[in-house]
Amino acid sequence: MKKSIRLIAVLGLILAGAVCAAGAPANLQQIMIGNVNPNGLALWDVTNKAMDENGKVSAKKLTEENWKNLLGIGLQLEEGGRALATSDGVIAASPGSKLQDEGNQGASTAQDVQRFIDAKSAEFRRHALALQKTGGDIVTAVKKHDAKKLDALSGSLDAVCEACHTAFWYPQLKK
Ligand code: HEC
Repeated sequence: MKKSIRLIAVLGLILAGAVCAAGAPANLQQIMIGNVNPNGLALWDVTNKAMDENGKVSAKKLTEENWKNLLGIGLQLEEGGRALATSDGVIAASPGSKLQDEGNQGASTAQDVQRFIDAKSAEFRRHALALQKTGGDIVTAVKKHDAKKLDALSGSLDAVCEACHTAFWYPQLKK
């Protein structure tokens, strides 16, 4: 009895946390630096090293340890996409933070990116959902140890990153 009361209290705390998270805007730069970029790089590192002579990811070259890591990577990417797609607004970066490349001529500042996102929030959300879906598909492929699917997803992830960056980070470069 005592145990179940404690469980309910814990569940309540978790729910309260989830509601708070849903009410706060997502910090795009933090999510990129803290989750999406390192997990994308980690994925490509594993898949590049597991390529056969035809440049395809080979299940034979993937160890149990690799699969375990890939599962975590897929879950994190899914979560990053979910956070950007479902949060109550998105801020480009914390006040005062500079974006990577911001010093380069013609590069966007955090204020520029904020404007791009605010002007097309539904489109931004679609890109975030694409990231969430790719992460989820990676999880499914990893659970089945499906190297062929993983190979395809490793390639399409790159396109998912690039499509959002072209639209919301440096739209000024679009021809
Ligand atoms: C839903 C849109 C979206 C997706 C998907 C996305 N990004 Fe980003 N990313 C951005 C935007 C916009 C910026 C620039 C503005 C910022 O950081 O606030 C950015 C910035 C970055 C940065 C620079 C952060 C800094 O230091 O300022 C890196 C690195 C990055 N993304 C990597 C990736 C990788 C790798 C992927 C795919 C695995 C990815 N992003 C997917 C929108 C996205």
